[in-house]
Amino acid sequence: MSANNHIVMADESVIVEAALLLKQGRLVALPTETVYGLGADASNPEAVKQIFSAKGRPENHPLIVHIGSVEQIHDWAVNVPDVALQLANLFWPGPLTLIFKKRPEVPMAVTGGQDTIALRIPNNPVALSLLKDFGGGIAAPSANRFKHISPTSAKHVLEELGSAVDLILDGGPCLLGVESTILDLSGEHYRLLRPGHISVSELEAVLKTKLSTGNASSVRTSGMMAVHYAPLTPAYLCASEGFPETLDKLAKMIKTVGILAYKYQPSSKQEHVIDMPEQSAEYAQSLYAALRELDQLKLDIILVEQPPETESWRAINDRLGKATVLIDI
Ligand code: TXA
Ligand code: MG
Repeated sequence: MSANNHIVMADESVIVEAALLLKQGRLVALPTETVYGLGADASNPEAVKQIFSAKGRPENHPLIVHIGSVEQIHDWAVNVPDVALQLANLFWPGPLTLIFKKRPEVPMAVTGGQDTIALRIPNNPVALSLLKDFGGGIAAPSANRFKHISPTSAKHVLEELGSAVDLILDGGPCLLGVESTILDLSGEHYRLLRPGHISVSELEAVLKTKLSTGNASSVRTSGMMAVHYAPLTPAYLCASEGFPETLDKLAKMIKTVGILAYKYQPSSKQEHVIDMPEQSAEYAQSLYAALRELDQLKLDIILVEQPPETESWRAINDRLGKATVLIDI
């Protein structure tokens, strides 16, 4: 099989081929339970550099290294607290990224020049068998261009990165749809850097302490930048209460509006409305695909109806906050 920028269903022989490509320093996009990742051999600085150029991402933004077993933590990290192993045993494979002090020999290319390393075991059969065949760590940010919407299908990866990626492993749509929870265990005070499917209260139950959620350090976490995960169409977030009235006002000023509706019931002839699921898990699963769909229509604006703001919606609201600007007219 020649691996030339195409999407292939990830069966066993294709996964073996993908592991070989990684060993040769090439880029392989892989499915995870959260979003698709753009993978390279994490121990090969030249391969890792290609990730940054394919994404158009600045080289000082650190990457997550995906590993195949809890024991491999020690190949990458030092000063690993006991509680980290408890968390790993409880939540891995799963949507939790843990940050530690890195081993001195870990290439700076993968940590964006920082002395810390982000690790996780993804919970996806294709990713797990690729990790097993490859044997080492796979550095993989989300497989989208810098600041764009993360991909939740193989087709999205192709749209984002095209020929910049050597092979796209198709494992179907991602089950969770938003990126992993990131917990920084590298300092004295543990900190939540990015909310995700694993909630703060689940983490606090294991840590037996309250988590700080502010970003007090100067760490360059692209997921924490104000504009991120964003469609190219200007996107606005609007309270659910009074949504139809806001829409009426907007209609007088703007020609084409795409709507991500939560409670709002459109009239039968209204176009460009995506009715989002009521439950947070299903909402998360389809959020990026829905934003992408509206974005591709090249409308004047996208209007997102604010979903609930309770804990199970936290990761969704975090991403919506970054993809949109609040509207109040
Ligand atoms: O669910 C996910 O985490 C997906 C899948 C592919 O695993 N990956 C992902 O990677 O979202 P990326 O690169 O798009 O986002 C990773 C975030 C970035 O905000 C990055 O700055 C942060 O993790 N990060 C990585 N290493 C870090 C470190 N050493 N210290 C602080 N933040 C770090
Ligand atoms: Mg990303």
